[in-house]
Amino acid sequence: MQPGEPVQPGEPVQPGKPVQAGAVAPVRIAIAGTGNIAGVHAAALRGLPGAELAGAADVDRARLAAFGAEHGVTGLHTDLAGLLAAVQPDLVHLCTPPALHFEQAGECLAAGASVLAEKPPTLSLRELDLLAELDRPGGPWFATVFQHRFGSAAGRLRAMAGSGVLGRPLLAICHTTWFRDQAYFDVPWRGRWQTEGGGPTMGHGIHQMDLLRYVLGDWAEISAIARRQARRTETEDLSMAHVVFASGAAASVVNSVLSPREESYLRFDFEHGTVEVSHLYGYRDEDWRVTPAPGHKQAVLAAWSQPTAGTPSGHRAQFAAVLAALHADAAPPVTLPDSRGTMSLVAGLYAAAFGGGVVRPAELGAGSPCYDRMDGLAPGWEQW
Ligand SMILES: NC(=O)c1ccc[n+]([C@@H]2O[C@H](COP(=O)([O-])OP(=O)(O)OC[C@H]3O[C@@H](n4cnc5c(N)ncnc54)[C@H](O)[C@@H]3O)[C@@H](O)[C@H]2O)c1
Repeated sequence: MQPGEPVQPGEPVQPGKPVQAGAVAPVRIAIAGTGNIAGVHAAALRGLPGAELAGAADVDRARLAAFGAEHGVTGLHTDLAGLLAAVQPDLVHLCTPPALHFEQAGECLAAGASVLAEKPPTLSLRELDLLAELDRPGGPWFATVFQHRFGSAAGRLRAMAGSGVLGRPLLAICHTTWFRDQAYFDVPWRGRWQTEGGGPTMGHGIHQMDLLRYVLGDWAEISAIARRQARRTETEDLSMAHVVFASGAAASVVNSVLSPREESYLRFDFEHGTVEVSHLYGYRDEDWRVTPAPGHKQAVLAAWSQPTAGTPSGHRAQFAAVLAALHADAAPPVTLPDSRGTMSLVAGLYAAAFGGGVVRPAELGAGSPCYDRMDGLAPGWEQW
């Protein structure tokens, strides 16, 4: 199809191809896995311009049928191959359990469909690097859901960090103190290395660690502990790390599912001001607080109060950015190399916690213990 050609009803389109002046063919989207988070995806897509939810797949027929009825989706299939062949989506949202992401993403990319995978994108750095071979400059692309980058306030903070108005980043705090009871881990894929890839570091705190990286950039060194403190799981239920970034900024990271007063808290102390956010599963502009350093009040507050869309963080904000990229024939955020930086921080935390000492990104390459599996260095606690 050439840019400018009309699209016939039902004809599959390549993402981002303009169809007529003023009109763009919608991105045909399919959802694989119709469990908990898939409902959030369907709701977030509802009414988003340029998106068409064209199909879904799940091995559980009853769940699939209920999802189709609730969200008005008709192209329903009990396997991914059937979905890809019949619906010919431009983009597949992978909402299946983490251990399936690698294989299913490969299947989608090989069929020419781009992929937006729920976190964690894969179980290991090795799997992510193998997918990179199928993620091509002109598409299809692989992207990861890290929705907290997409609120207006995070974008504003990143721009201010880049502009120099805040001065050097010195210190950060990144706390994911959430609560999951034992029943939460009764779902068979949760809390196991082979099916979830890790505990709250990989499954929960990864969101905050991604936002930390989004603001502070590349990490350079990490030391950590991980413990199985209270839950009957194979993985950790608590981890704590000290991270030094390439900029020299130092961060304290806590990932917990044991904390009855739940909070997601990030604090950035720059030379010229502190910027912090307290929320749980998504923030609004009002959840942020800025405290300028003496002598910097006017410049910092002027930069912070620049008008923005006031967009809260969340799936809808990320999907809008993904659709905009696909309509422009560009790689959707969060790109594979970008999410690899966050996955390497997770792998580094496990390598430091289970191996001891300080770990650097270069020590996590192919052949290193935590490249193939996050628990490549065994945790050292007994099976449950
Ligand atoms: N971004 C977020 O805030 C967020 C929040 C919750 C979960 N998640 C992630 O979303 C993913 C799914 O989590 P969930 O809580 O929705 O899990 P879930 O168990 O509720 O749903 C997974 C669904 O996948 C289906 N499934 C299993 N094998 C399949 C296959 N081969 N083909 C098609 N469907 C298959 C299951 O039947 C189930 O309906 C995980 O990666 C999780 O980490 C992300």
